[in-house]
Amino acid sequence: MVLKVAHRGQIPPFIVMDVMRAAAKREAEGASVLHLEVGQPSTGLPEGVRAELARRIMDDTLGYTVALGLDGLRSAIARFYRETQNADVDPARIAITTGSSAGFVLAFLAAFEAGDRVGLAMPGYPAYRHILTALGCEPVLIPVGPETRYQPTVEVLDRLDKPLDGLIVASPANPTGTVIPPEDLQALVTACGERGIRLISDEIYHGITYGPAAVSTVGMAEHPVVVNSFSKYFCMTGWRLGWLVLPPELVRPVECLAQNLFISPPALSQHAGIIALDHREAFEGNIQRYARNRRILLDGLPAAGLTRFAPADGAFYLYADVGHLTNNSLDFCARVLNETGIAITPGLDFDDTDGARWVRFSFCGSTETVATAVERLTPWLEGRKSSGRAGL
Ligand SMILES: Cc1ncc(COP(=O)(O)O)c(C=O)c1O
Repeated sequence: MVLKVAHRGQIPPFIVMDVMRAAAKREAEGASVLHLEVGQPSTGLPEGVRAELARRIMDDTLGYTVALGLDGLRSAIARFYRETQNADVDPARIAITTGSSAGFVLAFLAAFEAGDRVGLAMPGYPAYRHILTALGCEPVLIPVGPETRYQPTVEVLDRLDKPLDGLIVASPANPTGTVIPPEDLQALVTACGERGIRLISDEIYHGITYGPAAVSTVGMAEHPVVVNSFSKYFCMTGWRLGWLVLPPELVRPVECLAQNLFISPPALSQHAGIIALDHREAFEGNIQRYARNRRILLDGLPAAGLTRFAPADGAFYLYADVGHLTNNSLDFCARVLNETGIAITPGLDFDDTDGARWVRFSFCGSTETVATAVERLTPWLEGRKSSGRAGL
């Protein structure tokens, strides 16, 4: 008898993870691969943080913590907001999560009913729409482009044919890197408050900007759900540690969901998070490296014929138009990997229509990796230019 496979699990893949697998396979076969696919800093925790963590956990059993996380970490995050945003956040509103990914599951379950319509920018981070789909919510894809710097605006919301129950914004955004100016962000928060739209603000790339800093929604009176993580600024992808700042009415629902779904976030990682927050300045050198890497791509790729990019104000991605070379970014990236050993991500991960003509370069690796990638890619792209789209 054929057993049923639930419809809910039949969501599209997170394509970048498939690219990562293909790249790892090539490496295992002995090929040299330059990783510009995943948003994973090549530097881990600074030595000082590791040493302090090793000392602190000697006598700790590292058992379960309470579901919302260690009080010491929740207070350290509240202090972080006081120091960086001049905002007073009650630590009781902070929930520690297993990466921001688990934060999304908790926040969406607590805030939205099955069938609720949740808006999100396209191109945008794919897991938003796929998690919403798995939970039975309706992702409402809002196409955005250069005219709104790839971000949703109040005017864009006004043009939707049916009202939304929720809206997800990310600033800086993945894959475009664009930052929403403070006044536009406040306008969106206010408009959502007036219309009863629950705003989810993904602030995972805060601290990684190349112009004006991104402003948090954490101090705003409307209490959007703030999502953040130790994965990006703090380079702790594999530690699986993130947090939510919740409006008061969602704290207990999130606590009960977290108790039942995850019991607690990882204890070891929570201790590491407390120490990392104490050593914030030790991570600043990484931002300078990302800025150098970004410049190498922005200077090098136009010489290779790629000239149209999203602004890349922050995060560590360059979203580039390759529409003159292909109408299938999946095939294009597979060929780039096979023929040059450079792993990059197809735009189709972020936008299931126009993404066919875009690719994303992640530049959080070493400067040598990024520079070598430009060197290798330039002659390859030159070759494609002469063969044109038909060549791919
Ligand atoms: C915009 C955005 N949000 C959330 C995440 C999830 O990160 P994590 O679960 O490691 O906190 C990512 C990962 O790349 C991301 O780009």
